[in-house]
Amino acid sequence: MPTVQRITTPFTRLLSLRTPLVGGAMNTVSGPALATAVSLSGGFGFWAVDVRSSLPEFKTDLLRAREQLSTPPNEPVHLGLGALAWMLEPEHSPVRDMLEHGLREAPGVRAVWLSFGEDLGKWVRWVRGLDGERGDGRKTLLFIQVGTLEQALEAQQIGADVVVLQGSEAGGHSWEAATSTSALIAQALAHLPTPHPHILAAGGVGSGAQAAAYLTLGAEGVVVGTLLAATKESLFPQASKEALLHAGPGSTRRTTLWDRVQGRPWPKGVTGRALENALVEDEREGASVKEMRERVKRSGGERTIVFAGEGVGGVKAVLPAKVVIERLHSETVDALKTAHSLLQEPGSPGLSSRL
Ligand SMILES: Cc1cc2nc3c(=O)[nH]c(=O)nc-3n(C[C@H](O)[C@H](O)[C@H](O)COP(=O)(O)O)c2cc1C
Repeated sequence: MPTVQRITTPFTRLLSLRTPLVGGAMNTVSGPALATAVSLSGGFGFWAVDVRSSLPEFKTDLLRAREQLSTPPNEPVHLGLGALAWMLEPEHSPVRDMLEHGLREAPGVRAVWLSFGEDLGKWVRWVRGLDGERGDGRKTLLFIQVGTLEQALEAQQIGADVVVLQGSEAGGHSWEAATSTSALIAQALAHLPTPHPHILAAGGVGSGAQAAAYLTLGAEGVVVGTLLAATKESLFPQASKEALLHAGPGSTRRTTLWDRVQGRPWPKGVTGRALENALVEDEREGASVKEMRERVKRSGGERTIVFAGEGVGGVKAVLPAKVVIERLHSETVDALKTAHSLLQEPGSPGLSSRL
């Protein structure tokens, strides 16, 4: 984005970014290609370590990402690795093995994103242990995604460098107790003891005006999920990308239904936001989970679960991630300028004499 103004915050300075837009960690959706494309566009991309991959494949992908990002040999790869903490817990965890390789192999990756676990502190200590074993004196930046003020306070306490405030508008999973992203930003800024970790906002961004609103509220960066799930580099199946494209505003639903049907061991208190589909009607009619699973197998796509946030109406085409980030950045700049233009000096023409 050479001709567009940069947006600078303490978070962008930390990572030398040209834009405060961050590609969220999205399990089975944000792989190395998407994360790399976001980082190359001036933002910062997260690659969600994927259980469907293998350690040899992960190693090859990490080397390729290092090359594409032109990372000098002694510097960490300029992207982050994301993991759902509940996937790290089992004794045999391919996700943990891959993440461990990414963190242990000098000089590592720039950041790690942890979310949705019963004991995130344990995994923070694990990351710090691997940092120590790497022996280069560098600390991996720890991003912790939370949904409530209490969780944000805990994230600060256990040593998060960056707290991702994910509100109820967000696509994918979020905590049932989560408030709106705006309310969460206001609460965090009012109550986190200073100095506090960098604050990012995540949830429902479908336009630059919304990203600008979060920045104006005090977030130092904005996480983009759904808009990037609909890009060329996303690992979503083509049919899911098309579903995002054709979804209107107001077409998502936050419920535990998706996880009951998929039968995955998410922690208690977690819900998911996805495009409303025929499963909602099945449940209304009283169908059992077993029956709904059968219907998923038999149906031609009308029961496919497509995780998406409230900003899904902002998906206008399936484009390369670079185009999406650049467009969103330039819309954000425009919206910030518009906000600034509302200000007038006292005494300038057009102002009411009462002011
Ligand atoms: C398809 C999809 C998968 C996601 N997977 C994860 C995940 O694995 N870990 C996580 O912490 N958040 C996950 N999220 C949430 C994102 O990291 C981010 O907080 C959210 O997408 C932001 O809201 P938005 O989708 O409205 O932009 C996912 C979101 C989507 C849409």
